[in-house]
Amino acid sequence: MILLGIETSCDETALSLLEIRGNSADPLAVKGGFECRVIVSLIHSQAELHSAYGGVYPSLAKREHGKNLIPLLHKLLIEAGMTIHPEKADAIPAFDELVEKFRTDIAPQNPELFETFSHADFLRSKPPIDGIAVTQGPGLEPALWVGIAGAQMLGELWNVPVIPVNHMEGHIVGSLLPSDVSNGTWQVLHEAPLPALAFLLSGGHTELVLMRALGEYEIIGQTKDDAVGEAFDKTARLLGLPYPGGPHLAMLAQKAKDEGIAPPVRLPRPMISSGDLDFSFSGLKTAVLYAVRDAGGTPDETWRKGLALEFEQAVTETLDAKLRKALDQTGARSLVIGGGVSANDALRNTFTATAAEYDIPLFMPSRHISGDNALMITLAGALILDRDSSQGSTQKRITPGSLRAHGTKRLGSDPIS
Ligand code: KG4
Ligand code: ZN
Repeated sequence: MILLGIETSCDETALSLLEIRGNSADPLAVKGGFECRVIVSLIHSQAELHSAYGGVYPSLAKREHGKNLIPLLHKLLIEAGMTIHPEKADAIPAFDELVEKFRTDIAPQNPELFETFSHADFLRSKPPIDGIAVTQGPGLEPALWVGIAGAQMLGELWNVPVIPVNHMEGHIVGSLLPSDVSNGTWQVLHEAPLPALAFLLSGGHTELVLMRALGEYEIIGQTKDDAVGEAFDKTARLLGLPYPGGPHLAMLAQKAKDEGIAPPVRLPRPMISSGDLDFSFSGLKTAVLYAVRDAGGTPDETWRKGLALEFEQAVTETLDAKLRKALDQTGARSLVIGGGVSANDALRNTFTATAAEYDIPLFMPSRHISGDNALMITLAGALILDRDSSQGSTQKRITPGSLRAHGTKRLGSDPIS
C-alpha cells in the first residue's frame, strides 16, 4: 500500500510517498513490527521569504503553498517514477468535470492552488497511490487550508481515502523512524515501550504528553505563553540573528563553548521549582531584552556568544528539570522527543544522559526529519489506517469538502472533525 502525505501547517510545503508492507489477509498489519519504505520525501521551504518579516506571515504562507503544492507533487511523482503519459495510462475521464466542480468549491478560497491544479496534465492519469494523509492542525489555518483542499481534490480525483493527521502526532511517530530511513530500503519502525512520555518541542508547542497507546494521548505539561522554539527565535532576533533563529543561536552558543567564553549575565530558569509540569518562556525573552539594553543595545560578538550559551543552558536546565519530574510522576517506560527544537545538540546530549540515568529507551528524530516534513505525517496516517483496520473498523473516509482545518488542534482530541 502506498500513501501520499501532505504537510502545509507552517512555512514548509512538504510531500512524501511512503510504502507500507503487510500480508494479503490484512494488508497493513505486519508481524513483528510495522514496516515501511520511503519512496520520496520533498520539502519546499519558504523560510527565506518570511525572514523579511521576522516570522511566518500567514497570508504569504498560504499563497506560496498554493503556488507550490501541485508543482512539488509533479516533482515527487517524477522522482518516484510514477508519471505516465495520459494516453498510455489509466486516464481519468472525469478530470475536466472535476476541474469545473473545483472552480466553484475550491477556487474562490484557493485561487493559486486551483490554477496550478487545473493546468496539471500529469494529473490526468492515476498514480498507484492508495490514500492521502494530510495535516489537519495544529498550525496556521490559512496554510492548513491549502494542504487540506489539495488532499481533498486529489482524493476525489483518484477515488482514495483522505486521512486527517494531527501535526504533533506526526512529530511523535516521526521519532520512531530508524535513522537510515531516507535510503529507500524497508525499515521496521521502533517500538516505544508504553506508556511512553513524549516531549514535544517546536516553534508553536512545548508539551509533555503521556502516550498510553497510539492515538491515546494526555497532555500533562505545557507552556503558559511562548513555546520553546519561539523563545529561541525571539532571543535570536534580539541578538541580531536571522529567522528562524534557533539554529543560529545554537551555533553561537557552540562557539562560546569552543572558545571558553563565559556567560555575561545569569538568566532565570523560569518555573523550574513551580511544582507542576508547565513552562513559561516569555520572561526569559524579556530578561534577554533587558540584558541587551543594559549592555548598551549593540553588544559585541563575544558578549552575544556568551549570552547565547547562557540562554541555551537556561532552556536546557528548565526542560530537563520538568522532564525528570514527569518521568518520576508517570513511571514512563520510554522517552520520545519530537519537534524542530530537538535538533539542538545541547538538548540532545542532556536528554540522552537523562534517559540513560532513568534506564529507559530514548527515541529522537534523525536530524533531517526533526523539522516539519511530510514523512512523519504520512507515517502517522499509515499508523491510523493500520490501527483502524486491526480494530476491524472500516476505513474512515472523509466526505469531500467536509474536512476542516483546525489551527489549535490538541493531542487527545478526536482526530476526525
Ligand atoms: O517543529 P518545527 O520545525 O516547526 C513547528 O511545528 O513549529 O520547529 C521549528 C522550531 C523553530 O523555532 C526553530 O528555530 C527551532 O525549531 N529549531 C531549533 C534548532 N533547530 C530548529 N531551536 C534550537 N536549536 C536548534 N538547533
Ligand atoms: Zn512541527
